[in-house]
Amino acid sequence: MGDRLAVVTGTSAGIGEAVARALLGEGWTVVGLSRRTSSVEHSAYRHLQVDLGDLDRLKAVGEGTLAPLLRKAAWRRIGLVNNAAVAGGSTPVAELDPLHVAWVLAVNSIAPVFLMGLVSGRAAPGVPLRIVNVSSGAAVRGLAGMIEYCSSKAALRLASMCVAEEMQSAERPGGPRPDAAIVSYAPGVVDTPMQEAARSPGRLWNQLFVDMHAQGQLQPPELPAAEIARWLSSETAEPFAERRFGEP
Ligand SMILES: NC(=O)c1ccc[n+]([C@@H]2O[C@H](COP(=O)([O-])OP(=O)(O)OC[C@H]3O[C@@H](n4cnc5c(N)ncnc54)[C@H](OP(=O)(O)O)[C@@H]3O)[C@@H](O)[C@H]2O)c1
Repeated sequence: MGDRLAVVTGTSAGIGEAVARALLGEGWTVVGLSRRTSSVEHSAYRHLQVDLGDLDRLKAVGEGTLAPLLRKAAWRRIGLVNNAAVAGGSTPVAELDPLHVAWVLAVNSIAPVFLMGLVSGRAAPGVPLRIVNVSSGAAVRGLAGMIEYCSSKAALRLASMCVAEEMQSAERPGGPRPDAAIVSYAPGVVDTPMQEAARSPGRLWNQLFVDMHAQGQLQPPELPAAEIARWLSSETAEPFAERRFGEP
């Protein structure tokens, strides 16, 4: 087992699976979370099956399984990649079920906030923390049919800034964590099941996604995954940064 621990959400598919593989290749110990099992098999990989929208279960898994792991004195670096997200249903606002909106916000915004709290609260003082919150152009741009997705990504983006401010604050209980850095990272247009679903025939407001696919704009998940892995290993980092794929 290495001495760097990463918690990565959404490791059963897409970008999260590629991030887990990239980190394991670099010697990290990885804990992955998703509803399904993962095809990642490695002696330094542990998978936790959890629906991030089930906040009671997430709390139990967080306190019962992740917290004791995070507290271990062996880690000289801890990473968190809040990658898992659901896209929503391309539903007109008049037909949106408020319980569905609440669930999307739970998965995409509330669970990441809880995990940021867990990691920053349980990691031993002085251990460098690197947090990547996977964002999207949808965090800063409204799109028809994507109310719950855009809202949840906007909320996560601002939550990232709030947590970064807290980590630097002298008033933070336990003292500031100048060793913590958070990036809100937009991975570009990536060839994953999420994109496939977004352009599926018969879906309202799918043309943008059909066109991006037809124009060959999709990139393999390994490319943003490599950037995320590199950032988790960075020695120096600003308390908060926003990055899009391909930016230094
Ligand atoms: N693909 C793109 O073009 C694109 C563009 C901009 C931003 N992003 C962002 O990149 C991130 C990864 O997207 P992706 O394209 O790789 O998506 P994806 O292919 O749909 O994979 C999503 C992952 O999240 C997990 N997940 C979804 N709902 C979950 C839940 N309720 N509980 C636990 N895990 C859950 C899924 O696992 P289970 O289904 O097994 O739970 C899966 O492993 C997301 O934050 C997305 O918003 C993607």
